Amino acid sequence: MEEKKKPIILASDHAGYELKEKLKDVLKEHEIPFEDLSPEFDKDDDYPNHAFRAAHKVVREKTRGILLCGTGIGMCIAANKVKGVIAVFAYDEKTARFSRQYNDANVLCLGARTTDETTAKNILKAWLTTRFLEGRHTRRVEKIKKYEKE
Ligand code: RB5
Repeated sequence: MEEKKKPIILASDHAGYELKEKLKDVLKEHEIPFEDLSPEFDKDDDYPNHAFRAAHKVVREKTRGILLCGTGIGMCIAANKVKGVIAVFAYDEKTARFSRQYNDANVLCLGARTTDETTAKNILKAWLTTRFLEGRHTRRVEKIKKYEKE
């Protein structure tokens, strides 16, 4: 399914914890290695802590990440502050696929309070199996990366 065998980085806050656990089924089913940076449930935790830690690891290890919180929005905002991260919030398979094809997203954010388990699993599968289309999309993504460096 996923050609890269580098472990995918998983993280969640308390609101995303349960869905994160369920998404592990998809990764195991497709023999995709992963590393869970939020293995303990902490009802008082804050999503930016998880997002920053996971996002830095994604960049350092040139892999991809899956972040979950209540809405997916907070994780996405925080992860995008880390240089080298292109984090997206996907709410269906189509947005998941486009975020890979057009944007070369390396972090997927999902909302456990807004996306049901089946949809989230389908989104994850779509995101993991879709390649960046390159071509003119490379030029566009490079503009974002250049801006980030300035
Ligand atoms: C936590 O209650 C909630 O604010 C968080 O999970 C997330 O949805 C923020 O965007």
